[in-house]
Amino acid sequence: MNKRGKFISRRKILFGLGGLAAVGALATKQLVQAVDNLKKDFQVTGKLSLSQRAAKKGLIYGAASRKIDLSSNPLYAAAIVQNCSLLVPEWEFKWTAGNVRLRPSPNRFDFTAADWMANFAATHNLLLRGHTLVWHESLPPWFQKTVNRQNAEQILENHIHALVKRYAGKIHSWDVVNEIIQPKDGRRDNLRITPWLQLLGPNYIDLAFRLTAAADPKALLVYNEYGLDYDNPEQETKRTAVLKLLERLRAKSVPIHALGIQAHLSPGDNKFNPKKLRQFLHHVAGLGLKILITELDVVDKKLPRDIKVRDRIIAAVYEDYLSTVLEEKAVIAVITWGLSDRYSWLNEFEPRPDRAPVRPLPLDAQMQRKLAWNAIARAFDNAPKR
Ligand code: G3I
Repeated sequence: MNKRGKFISRRKILFGLGGLAAVGALATKQLVQAVDNLKKDFQVTGKLSLSQRAAKKGLIYGAASRKIDLSSNPLYAAAIVQNCSLLVPEWEFKWTAGNVRLRPSPNRFDFTAADWMANFAATHNLLLRGHTLVWHESLPPWFQKTVNRQNAEQILENHIHALVKRYAGKIHSWDVVNEIIQPKDGRRDNLRITPWLQLLGPNYIDLAFRLTAAADPKALLVYNEYGLDYDNPEQETKRTAVLKLLERLRAKSVPIHALGIQAHLSPGDNKFNPKKLRQFLHHVAGLGLKILITELDVVDKKLPRDIKVRDRIIAAVYEDYLSTVLEEKAVIAVITWGLSDRYSWLNEFEPRPDRAPVRPLPLDAQMQRKLAWNAIARAFDNAPKR
């Protein structure tokens, strides 16, 4: 039964998915499972928002967003306020991203956009997440020719001190370091070879956490990572490496409080194994760490074009994933990487081969709820209370 109360014929579903199987994107077993999922109606009860449903279970629901979108689309801004209890600036707290230049030069900060986002959050009583202090992909153009082994520590200290101090007491959590494990880089410690590692050695991680803790003792300090969700050798290796890093950091009393699991989900050719994922989450929690699902969305480029079929598969992916991770009570927050399909990064970064607009998020481009919204709502409604 879809939103308009029409049964989607099983033939249409199989045809839609059959095309998928034809491109080898879905194993037969997953094809059948997807069809079974598609019989679900994803019904929700009551009128509570996503954040209200999350709060009833002691959880936080939020979304990433950008000043450029919030300031230009009142309908979207209203949807963020109505659905979320937390906001994470997608661009504005990075060294540089999109049209935002927080760090225009080695000795300057431009807090205009970051302040705007912090004020939006405060005005609408939203928790604010800082993303991200140390990430190899958001370094400004001047970084490479300016930063060297002699000044790197001072530049990192200046950045963290100035940015974290400015919003101290207003930040729910900081992604202190982002995407720092990369087994393919071949190091014994599985650290990603980034400019910070090359300039400061592995202790850049300890330093970043200690500097952030000193600048804002109230914020939850997070290591944020992707590629931890699926049952395949590459992600199993990465989960093991992440656990080893977390153990090392905890053994050295580094002030790390949580693991951020980005959860950019990509159905089609990845095997989801709830038992394996729950084991990983249990090990992380066993280190005394909290867990945040920090960038949840569903890449739909390998799914059928038919919106009715695609939306149902995406909803099933959301419900299967969240019902698994929310069983772990150390999981304290679920944040989608955007709220509306209109502003998803996937439009540019993971476009569909048929160029059809992507549909990864809870709201469509016109801010209307989709089955993904229902699936997230149901997962919160069925989650154990924290
Ligand atoms: O849309 C403009 C395009 O019109 C313009 O021609 C082009 C030229 O620069 O830029 C395009 O904007 C880009 C934007 O992505 C599109 O969404 C920005 O340059 C680019 O900086 C921006 O990248 C962001 C990326 O992080 C790097 O900061 C994405 O918005 C953002 O969604 C992405 O988010 C990351 C998280 O921070 C970390 N985890 C992975 C996640 C996805 O990559």
